[in-house]
Amino acid sequence: MKKWPPLRLLPPLLLTFFSLFSFSTCRDTITINSSLSAQETLVSSGGVFTLGFFPANKYKYLGIWYTKISKQTIVWVANRDSPINDTSSVLTISSNRSNLLLQSSSNNVLWSTSISANLVNPVAQLLDSGNFVLMENNTDKIVWQSFDHPTDTALPGMKVGFISGQYRNLVSWSGSDDPSSSNYKFSLRLSGFPEFFLLDGLKPVGRNGPWVGDHFSTEPAVVNNGTFTSEYVSNDNETYYTYYVNNPSIMSRVVVNQSTIKRYVADTSGSNWTLYWTFPSDQCDNYGQCGSNALCNTYTSTVPDCTCLTGFQPESEKDWKLRDTSAGCIRQVELNCTSDGFITINNAKLPDTTNATVDTTIGLEECRNRCLMNCSCTGYANSDTLNGGSGCVTWVGDLVDLRQFTRGAQDFYYRVAGSQVPVTSTKKNRNTGIIVTCVVLGLLFLASTVYLIHKKLRKNHENVAYMQRQRQISFESERPLALVRDKAREEGLSTDGNDIVLRVFHASVISAATNNFALANKLGEGGFGTVFKGELEGGQQIAVKRLSKFSTQGLGEFKNEVILIAKLQHVNLVRLLGCSIEGEERMLVYEYMENKSLDTIIFYKARSSQLNWHKRFEIIKGIARGVLYLHEDSRFRIIHRDLKTSNVLLDDNMNPKISDFGIARIFGGDEKKSHTNRVVGTYGYMSPEYAMDGVFSVKSDVFSFGVLVLEIISGKKNRGIFSVEPSLNLLSYVSVLFNIHLFFSTIKANFITNYLEYNSKIILQAWTLWKEGKALELLDSSISSNSNNNLQVMRCIQVGLLCVQDRQEDRPHMSEVVLMLNSLNTSLTEPKQPVYFSVRDASNMESSSSCTVSDMTVTVIEPR
Ligand SMILES: *[C@@H]1O[C@H](CO)[C@@H](O)[C@H](O)[C@H]1NC(C)=O
Ligand SMILES: *[C@@H]1O[C@H](CO)[C@@H](O)[C@H](O)[C@H]1NC(C)=O
Ligand SMILES: *[C@@H]1O[C@H](CO)[C@@H](O)[C@H](O)[C@H]1NC(C)=O
Ligand SMILES: *[C@@H]1O[C@H](CO)[C@@H](O)[C@H](O)[C@H]1NC(C)=O
Ligand SMILES: *[C@@H]1O[C@H](CO)[C@@H](O)[C@H](O)[C@H]1NC(C)=O
Ligand SMILES: *[C@@H]1O[C@H](CO)[C@@H](O)[C@H](O)[C@H]1NC(C)=O
Ligand SMILES: *[C@@H]1O[C@H](CO)[C@@H](O)[C@H](O)[C@H]1NC(C)=O
Ligand SMILES: *[C@@H]1O[C@H](CO)[C@@H](O)[C@H](O)[C@H]1NC(C)=O
Ligand SMILES: *[C@@H]1O[C@H](CO)[C@@H](O)[C@H](O)[C@H]1NC(C)=O
Ligand SMILES: *[C@@H]1O[C@H](CO)[C@@H](O)[C@H](O)[C@H]1NC(C)=O
Ligand SMILES: *[C@@H]1O[C@H](CO)[C@@H](O)[C@H](O)[C@H]1NC(C)=O
Repeated sequence: MKKWPPLRLLPPLLLTFFSLFSFSTCRDTITINSSLSAQETLVSSGGVFTLGFFPANKYKYLGIWYTKISKQTIVWVANRDSPINDTSSVLTISSNRSNLLLQSSSNNVLWSTSISANLVNPVAQLLDSGNFVLMENNTDKIVWQSFDHPTDTALPGMKVGFISGQYRNLVSWSGSDDPSSSNYKFSLRLSGFPEFFLLDGLKPVGRNGPWVGDHFSTEPAVVNNGTFTSEYVSNDNETYYTYYVNNPSIMSRVVVNQSTIKRYVADTSGSNWTLYWTFPSDQCDNYGQCGSNALCNTYTSTVPDCTCLTGFQPESEKDWKLRDTSAGCIRQVELNCTSDGFITINNAKLPDTTNATVDTTIGLEECRNRCLMNCSCTGYANSDTLNGGSGCVTWVGDLVDLRQFTRGAQDFYYRVAGSQVPVTSTKKNRNTGIIVTCVVLGLLFLASTVYLIHKKLRKNHENVAYMQRQRQISFESERPLALVRDKAREEGLSTDGNDIVLRVFHASVISAATNNFALANKLGEGGFGTVFKGELEGGQQIAVKRLSKFSTQGLGEFKNEVILIAKLQHVNLVRLLGCSIEGEERMLVYEYMENKSLDTIIFYKARSSQLNWHKRFEIIKGIARGVLYLHEDSRFRIIHRDLKTSNVLLDDNMNPKISDFGIARIFGGDEKKSHTNRVVGTYGYMSPEYAMDGVFSVKSDVFSFGVLVLEIISGKKNRGIFSVEPSLNLLSYVSVLFNIHLFFSTIKANFITNYLEYNSKIILQAWTLWKEGKALELLDSSISSNSNNNLQVMRCIQVGLLCVQDRQEDRPHMSEVVLMLNSLNTSLTEPKQPVYFSVRDASNMESSSSCTVSDMTVTVIEPR
């Protein structure tokens, strides 16, 4: 028997008290010797839930409800489809100790847990979470639980979706007084990009949209202000959604009632439910309200406002005018695959993803290219909206059930024929906030522009001079291009003096070699295009970089790359065999690297053991030599600007070769530093001064090299691969302001904070372990460390940390790096703490960043 509560506790417990009082028992368990009769109830130990028999629709049902809510709120029903029609049913544990049974007076089994467990000491207990579990007494061994068999309500902690090979759907009651299963259910559709549908039988009524990082695509407005924590898991074996309430004094439930889903909240002291969220919330939430290829939005009026997507027109103009939009819209101009473009819808609820394809490993830019390359792709978007967006979803066929919100949702891109792309929608500045800032600070900006123009003029002048030195090369020639040395020399492609052969391939040869750029031959995607494997007649294997027509790389940059790479000959640089130009189509032909890029090995457990420490050390040294050659030994000073694991290729002997010089810049003579307002590169590898101010120098490459080293050692990414262009335009605007006006340090601090979010992982970990004297723990677990290696590992970590120091002046030159790696006996300086990457505390941030800012600015403004 439960002890009476002390008197002063009575008021809050009043309700519990009464419910306890009104029944003869107050227990929360059923054992083999104590079953539950029709007149009894179980009450969870904290008094939150009650399990018992309740009447509905002339029958009785076994169910669970909230103890304290005055209007009985049933959250679970055991026998919803086999009601009790007598008064003496009983819930027992079966005599063979394996199941819970609901038996009628005539010993008919109306409901059972239908499992085959053999328990020694079975106990069925009602928990305060609302979960009713069957388990072995005093162990964690739960063999059955009501949470695995939801009815119409999802309680906190309950998983809805697909788990252990079973769907766990929410199925509505048939009526307000009839718990039997209705046709309406909230169920997961696993195909494509999984998403929850509200179905009437098999017909979709509404669509919750796929999970895009921290919310479902359909509910961008649900601002999680800390009341709930959502959890969504999706992998090969299971996909489910569950949620938790963070505040213990709040109760919440999600219930499917006919064609609606509602989330209610109530505080535990009160007794009424508040509606927190409902779906559908308006007519645009009705599945396919506007038909296919149309956009639904409600912000102009209360009736759904259907408009065909730009470039589409109503299938039937007459029906459309009568608001019968079910036939949807059709294209005005058919896609022709080669010259298509994209239009952006911002704040979109993603269209039906049943037939979509997801790839979480690539970013938006690659996603766009992938979609562009595949003629059947009709749209794309990020699959995850967190941290600025990542992952890729692509659609095929009609776009169904697309709607637009006013805020909070993501961008969706759909494909139209090139002629349909409105000029204004190609580049949209997402950050209006910054525009405002720019307008407000217009005057200052003007001043800085003058400064920039001055710089730009100077640079252009230099470029022109350089180009003249190099002789202009015309690629527009219409002459047949299948030839080697002599002709190439004639066209200026062969370098003077050096006997370098650069082949110019006819496009059809490349096309044949790559099996018409078959997807099966695709090796990967770089910043400016896609790389395919090919085989020339005669069996030579090649890698073809097919430059994206929509990339920012112009003819000029292309020439730059061709000439540069042709002149660079080093064992640690990938060799350019030739190129191909046909109209708009431009391609580079490289030697093929058997073992692909470094990132395809070191970041994957299954492959990473191919590279033992000895190999990794050789790779690190090889890369260092390659970069040294670029920086100092080649004829020109070349800064790679995009050193990263995916740009390091491995040949059949695992020798590293640096690739992708598309954004390298040439520096004649003694020029050491440059300033750019278009920062190109990859987050995670960008030095602070490059990302913040667009200042790059050989020391920026040294920084990237440092990150590379730490990644090779640890086998972990400093950051997921992510393309940064959009935000960087912004960065550079602000940095322009900065260079001249130091006092905007707060704006800058925000950017630094963001930047930190993305870039700090391995640097921070390495620094922390180094500081604690445990640096060896950084080593990839797939590498066995032994005393022979330790010296080399420590040395590499130290070199890595020296390379990622904040101040360029502190970082070593590549020549020093190569020395440090080759002579393990020389002593090294202690690396300094990477301040940029470790200061998260706002007050520290203020002081340290402002001091560094002025340092950097001096280096920038200082005229060269
Ligand atoms: C479960 O274990 C507890 C503690 O050992 C004991 O008091 C209780 O009687 C057991 N119940 C059953 C059904 O065995
Ligand atoms: C159940 O009752 C039987 C016989 O009365 C007794 O032997 C057994 O110990 C009881 N079991 C529990 C768990 O109380
Ligand atoms: C009660 O249910 C049993 C089995 O479902 C059925 O055989 C019986 O006829 C029902 N009795 C009444 C009064 O409905
Ligand atoms: C235990 O009994 C129930 C019904 O009495 C039966 O369905 C189940 O198969 C039995 N389980 C085992 C393991 O014998
Ligand atoms: C479903 O909605 C109806 C009408 O709003 C209401 O009367 C009924 O109680 C609801 N049922 C459940 C299970 O919440
Ligand atoms: C969260 O939002 C709910 C509903 O708008 C509101 O009642 C509650 O006070 C908010 N909580 C916090 C911590 O802001
Ligand atoms: C999926 O299940 C298989 C077999 O049970 C298991 O080996 C694998 O690790 C699981 N995968 C995930 C992502 O949980
Ligand atoms: C709950 O709702 C009922 C009826 O709407 C009302 O009479 C009662 O005061 C409410 N209780 C609380 C605690 O808000
Ligand atoms: C595609 O359209 C563009 C411009 O409308 C045209 O130049 C091109 O020839 C077309 N290509 C095909 C394959 O029809
Ligand atoms: C998905 O593909 C199937 C089969 O082609 C088609 O019937 C269905 O309409 C498509 N669904 C969507 C939403 O496009
Ligand atoms: C285009 O995409 C569809 C759907 O993702 C896929 O089935 C098809 O194989 C792709 N085609 C090519 C040529 O890549």
